[in-house]
Amino acid sequence: MSDFEPKIVAFFCNWCTYGAADLAGVSRLDYPPNFRVVRLPCTGRLNPKYILEAFKRGADGVWVSGCHPGDCHYIAGNYHARRKFVLLHHMLETLGVEPGRLHFSWISSAEAIKFQEVARDVVEKVRACGPNESFRKAELGLAEVA
Ligand code: FES
Repeated sequence: MSDFEPKIVAFFCNWCTYGAADLAGVSRLDYPPNFRVVRLPCTGRLNPKYILEAFKRGADGVWVSGCHPGDCHYIAGNYHARRKFVLLHHMLETLGVEPGRLHFSWISSAEAIKFQEVARDVVEKVRACGPNESFRKAELGLAEVA
């Protein structure tokens, strides 16, 4: 078994997943400490360039999580986020970045157990990808073309 511990940047909506993470902590649910959380007012406000920047600065994985469909406090922000996420996922795949590095989920503030399960799953999938080398190679490839 590898000693590799992935570094994961987690963009969480303030109204749901951030609350779930808080509830998981208060409920003493054990989950991996591999995340650095960035709290957002809504996942719809997440510009994809921040995801790319996280990879560029050495994150092994990125996890975006927001309100369930129909529950976004800004009506459709999470739908916009999902659309951007799907496009970015395809783009990263085209660049040769493993799909297991980028994750998206819906977790409400009452779902601490789901938070724990998804957190473990995200860490295991990013761990399986290994250290983030492919994004740097993809970035170098683009730099050579430009
Ligand atoms: S307010 Fe949570 S995703 Fe929009």
